[in-house]
Formats: sequence, structure tokens, C-alpha cells
Amino acid sequence: MCGIIGVVQKKGDAAPFLHQALKRLEYRGYDSVGITTIYNNQLFTKKDKGKIDEVHASLNLDDLPGPIGIGHTRWATHGIPSLYNSHPHFDCDNKIAVVHNGVIDNFLELREELKQKGHKFHSETDTEVIPHMIEDYMKNGMDLKSSVRAVSERIEGTYAIVVMTTLESDKIVCTRDGNPLVIGTRPDASYVSSDIPAFLPMTNDMILLLDGEIATLTTCGVSIEKISDGTPVKRDVIRISWTADQAQKGGFPHFMLKEIHEQPMAIKNTLHLRSDAIRPAAEMILNSKKVYLIAMGTSGHAAMAGKHMLAALGGIFSTFELASDFPDTIYGTLTEDDCIIAITQSGETTDTIAAVKYAKSFGAKVIAITNVIGSSITRIADHTIITQAGPEIGVAATKTFMVQLTALALLALMLGETNSFLDQNTLRKKRESLTKLPDIVSDVIAKSEEHARRLSAILYDRPSFLFLGRGISIATANEGALKLKEISYNHAEGYSAGESKHGPIALVHDGFPVVFVIPNDATRNRIIGNVMEMKARGATIISVIEEGDNDLIELSDHYITIPKGVEPEFSTIPFVVPLQLFSYYMAIKKGHDPDKPRHLAKSVTVL
Ligand code: G6P
Repeated sequence: MCGIIGVVQKKGDAAPFLHQALKRLEYRGYDSVGITTIYNNQLFTKKDKGKIDEVHASLNLDDLPGPIGIGHTRWATHGIPSLYNSHPHFDCDNKIAVVHNGVIDNFLELREELKQKGHKFHSETDTEVIPHMIEDYMKNGMDLKSSVRAVSERIEGTYAIVVMTTLESDKIVCTRDGNPLVIGTRPDASYVSSDIPAFLPMTNDMILLLDGEIATLTTCGVSIEKISDGTPVKRDVIRISWTADQAQKGGFPHFMLKEIHEQPMAIKNTLHLRSDAIRPAAEMILNSKKVYLIAMGTSGHAAMAGKHMLAALGGIFSTFELASDFPDTIYGTLTEDDCIIAITQSGETTDTIAAVKYAKSFGAKVIAITNVIGSSITRIADHTIITQAGPEIGVAATKTFMVQLTALALLALMLGETNSFLDQNTLRKKRESLTKLPDIVSDVIAKSEEHARRLSAILYDRPSFLFLGRGISIATANEGALKLKEISYNHAEGYSAGESKHGPIALVHDGFPVVFVIPNDATRNRIIGNVMEMKARGATIISVIEEGDNDLIELSDHYITIPKGVEPEFSTIPFVVPLQLFSYYMAIKKGHDPDKPRHLAKSVTVL
């Protein structure tokens, strides 16, 4: 939540780069934007509430002088979106500029203290205490780096902070604790950002910054120290394979649609993961007594489906819990014999990180499944599986969901093989089915896109939807419902079809839309009964079914088909695709921007 960026370059103005980098970070928050640069020992700032394009249209964000600068795109926590609450924030003399991502829990106490000393505040944000504290420390003779270190010792909460000052106008200083910051480097410039795509067009060379470290960026390069005792940190440069093109729309009107179309490639790349990326996870699970899957949002739906895969293919029973509620559900019953599989595309979701830290405090083993190399979770987990979706910019997760499911399928098959839960013939059949999925998903996109668009034209004004499935398809139905509410703002509930008659059916009336997810698996015949129940009460039945399922074609008002030959444990992968496309076209039909849904952010770094 909130995107932050900083650049120190040898020549040229920083502002046009900062503006474009913020566009690439806009998925992290988009209620206000601001840029500050340094030129001739003076700060120059443009900021306001609104999306980046709107603010740029009125202020021209490119028109700021100087080769060093910082920028911020905001997702409001403390204070409404407004000019004054927009970052950067400043000290009393307008010499120190700060951008911040995270929450400072003790800001009220610090602000009071600073006010007593005569500092004047202009915003309601927690962030503004930081430049005023630095002002005090620097007036007392400290340099910028020591001041930032002193600030980090006083503030409580989670943060990523990027600071610059006219008093030391050749550098940017940054630090983090609990919120992401990555550094990009090339011979003539250094970058710091909340996420890699921000600097991808300039460099593929990245340096990790860990919690509790402080970095100084100058034209001579980057130096890192431990914040606690100033010990220098030597860290290798990592070359990342993501390309700048992957972070562009590439001719598609929205990132979300582009990313849906990238799903076959994302699955294929993840299927190429070497077995030594998966084996340590399988061994950890097989050596554990209890296995928990934890995640949030769409990743939670991957976890729900993963639970089925681990049982059906791997012979391992596990439990899915929302990471946000994990400690409140588990009541300290974890032991060092237990294993946690934490799924998070960003690797930064605070709820998930907190749950993992909680589990580790009992000595439980942690397997992470994430899409981002070097993200926070990779540094806490005992083993990490890095999925291969490439950067995902659309706030609504699509291709990262696919690769999480693919990684879970690989893990389940390895479990099934290692503990001989599956015989060789079954293993071969399942593996063949898995390798066909990229082509099947391509086919589904090609055949269902127009269908989904037409359905949206018929159903866009229905205020409420039910999405129903049985078995693994409850996860698919939940994801379909989440996508719809996230980006089209129609109310939608994902539910077990079996449970639907114990309450939700009371909502149904003539024309009420009920979306059924019905692969040709062991649940198919039972779910037909639920279709009949809904139909008898006047529901409009929309179904996603296997090709040639004539009974269900007959029973449905609208249907979309999926090619035959998908093994039941993998059905979420193709069956969710028409639901993603449906929600996309519903958002378009209603005039909403699917890439930037209201109130949401891609990476949620608050509890
Ligand atoms: C946010 C995003 C969702 C995402 C969830 C979990 O709510 O809007 O798309 O599924 O966070 O994110 P994670 O990075 O942990 O998968």
C-alpha cells in the first residue's frame, strides 16, 4: 500500500522518470500523488489528491528541476486524500522531504512532543512526524543518515521511508521495517522503490534491502549498513529476468486483461520449475504432524483449492485458515512438528507475514509460495517456491492465482509420488493433464472472452450474485465472486452449493443470477440437484461446465464450456478463467477501471 520511489542520477532531470515510475506503482494506491526534487539546494514539489494522470494534467509532474528526487502514490490510512495529506511531507524549513509507506503507531505521542517544541504540522498523516524529527536531529548536529537512524529508534509500527534534504543534497537515505523497499542500480544512477517494476525500464540489477538496514544512494553507488550498530552490509547484485515490456500494457486496454491473456505462459513457466524447487517443501510436509495453508484474498482461494490437491493427489490432509485470523483460531496449539504453507503473490501482505512470524515463534516450519524474489516472506520462510508469473500490475490478481495453483499442483504430485499415494499410471495421467493446461487455458480465453462480454451486457445491472460450487469448485466459485465484487462492485457471494440451501437460497427470486461452477468430477451429479433447487425458485442459471455436458446445457440459461480432459484436481485453473473475464467485462460495462478498483490496493501492508 502506497508506492514510493527515489532516484539519484548523474545527469538529467529526475522528474519525468519519477512520474513514469509512479505510474508503474499506481496499483499500490492511487488517491494522491507527489514528487519532490532538489535543485540548487532548494526543494521543488508538485503534489495533490487524485490519480496520477489527473494530477499530471493540471500540474505537469515532469516539470521539476534536478537529478535527484523522490515520489509517492498514496493509499490513505491517516487522513483523507487531500493536497495536504499527499506525500512528500516536509520539516518546518522545507529542507527535508520524506515519503513513507506503512503505519507509525506512536505518531500521536511524537507529534505532541514536536508541537511542544514549536513544530508546525500541515497534515493529519502519521508520516509528517518524520521530517520534523529529522529537522531536530540535524539541528543538533547529526548528519542525515544518523538522523534517520535516530528516527527509526523512536518510531513504532511498520515502515519504508525514503528521505532527502537540501542540507546534504547529493543523496537519498532510506530504511525499512516491515514494508518493502528494493534498490536498483546501474553505473550512472541508483533507484529505491516499493517494487521492482518501478525501475525495470532502467535496470535489471537489484540489491535487496532487509528490515533493520539503512541505505545511502549517491551518484557513486549504494552503501548499506545495519541500523542497530552501523555494521556495513555487503550484498550481491541480483539480476532479475523480468522485462520492462511485462510491466507495460502491450496493446491491451488494461493490465488485468493483458494478465488474463498471459496466464497460459505463466502456467507454462511455472511448470518448468525444477524438482529441487519443490522437493524440500514436500519433505517438510511429509515430516510434519499438522499442515496449515494460510493466505489472504485471491491467494486464500488458491490455498482452498490447494487443500483439495494435497489431499486428493498427495494423501495429505491440511487445514486452510485466513492468515489474518490464524493466531485467533489456533490458540497456540502449534508445535515444531507442524508445517505452514503461506501463499502470497507479493510476499509482503502484513496479515500473512504476521501469521508466519507467529507460527515460527512455535518452531513450526514455513514453506512460502510467492511470485516476488527477495520479498519479505522469502526471508522468513524455511523454503520458498518462486512462481513464474512475471510482474502483475492489475490490482485484481489473475495470473498470480494461476501460478499459485500450478505450484500447489506440482507440490501435491511430488507428495503423491514420494509417499506412494499415487501409483505410476495415475501419476503419469495427472502429469500429462497438468502439462496440457497452458493450451487448455489459451483455448478457454479464446472461446469464452466474447461470451463473457455478452453476458456482462445482459447481467451488469443485477445488484447481487451467488457463485456456487462443490468440493474444489467452492474455491473457484469464491474467486469468481471476489473478482466480481472487487472490480465491478456488484454484490457477490461465493458459497458451497451444498450449504446454499441453508440460507442463501432465501435471497433467490425471479431472475436472481446464480453462477454454478461444475466440472465433470465426483460432485457433478449432486450439484445438479442444487441447480434444480435454484431454478425452481426462478433463478437465472449461469454455468461453467465441461464441453458436451448436455444435461447442464439444458438446465442453464447461459453457459460457458471448458474443454474435456482436465483432471478434477486441476479444474480451478481453467474454470476460473471465464469468471475472471466476466468480472472484467462487467467492470468495463459499468465504466469502472478494473486496474484500480476503489479502496483496494494490490499489496496490503497494514493489519
Ligand atoms: C490484496 C489484493 C488481492 C490479493 C490480496 C493478498 O487484497 O487486492 O488481489 O489477493 O491482497 O495478496 P498477496 O500478495 O498476499 O497474495
